[in-house]
Amino acid sequence: MPKIISIHSFRPGTGKSQLTANIATILAAAGQRVAIIDSDVSSPSIQAIFGVADSAITHSLNDFLWGKCGIEATAVELNSSIRHALKGQLYLVPFATRNSTIDYDILLLSDSFELLINTLGLDVLLIDTQPGVQFAALPSIAFSDIQLLVLQLREQDLQGTGVVIDISEQLGIDEMVLVVNQIPEHYNLREVQQKIEQIYQRPVLAALPYAELLAEYQPATDANAHIFVVDHPDHPISLLLTNVAATLTA
Ligand SMILES: Nc1ncnc2c1ncn2[C@@H]1O[C@H](COP(=O)(O)OP(=O)(O)OP(=O)(O)O)[C@@H](O)[C@H]1O
Ligand SMILES: [Mg+2]
Repeated sequence: MPKIISIHSFRPGTGKSQLTANIATILAAAGQRVAIIDSDVSSPSIQAIFGVADSAITHSLNDFLWGKCGIEATAVELNSSIRHALKGQLYLVPFATRNSTIDYDILLLSDSFELLINTLGLDVLLIDTQPGVQFAALPSIAFSDIQLLVLQLREQDLQGTGVVIDISEQLGIDEMVLVVNQIPEHYNLREVQQKIEQIYQRPVLAALPYAELLAEYQPATDANAHIFVVDHPDHPISLLLTNVAATLTA
């Protein structure tokens, strides 16, 4: 069964886009057919991480929802921008073109996800959502099979994540899982994982350390993807993300 997974967080900057891009690449490298919906319209991070130029983005999901194009026109192929051959297939689907407004009939959104999955033959649809509980993020989350919540060890995140979980429960999300990211060096990762699981009573798929190497990953300015797991396949974060990807798609 194909899976729709939204990657979300209460606060901006927790690492959603980095984790989404890397998990997608891991899955596609293992032979799966994967698409990422980039919901960030003001600075499309997924597009930047994979080194896709604005000129390559001709149509968006928003255009499809307005009947302006077919669903296949919204998908940008990403395999050729990655320097490792992927066994599977990877696509980017921009929610809207840069700086345009997302405005659509919510009832059509769920159908558009299904059509995307069927037309591209997807195994996994990952949605890099907008942070917070603002209206822009909620429809995508509501139509997901799994919500992956990314948080850091900050007071604001700890409280906000509780709020997000409450709202997602009301939206009827069956499966909510967590990843704790950017954990400062002196913490015991296993203890953090157990503590956060206790607080929210949800599985914590990984407790990821803060890594200078990953912090340095800037959006690509050339036409190539800059993907951490491709460049550092044996780094602890890459190994932990491989587990996360496997659990999400099990
Ligand atoms: N484990 C980590 N260690 C160090 N830096 C990290 C880690 N994870 C992510 N980062 C860095 O944190 C910054 C924010 O990450 P990212 O853009 O993925 O967050 P985001 O949640 O998508 O933000 P936004 O909500 O603004 O879309 C980036 O510079 C990224 O490289
Ligand atoms: Mg982002």
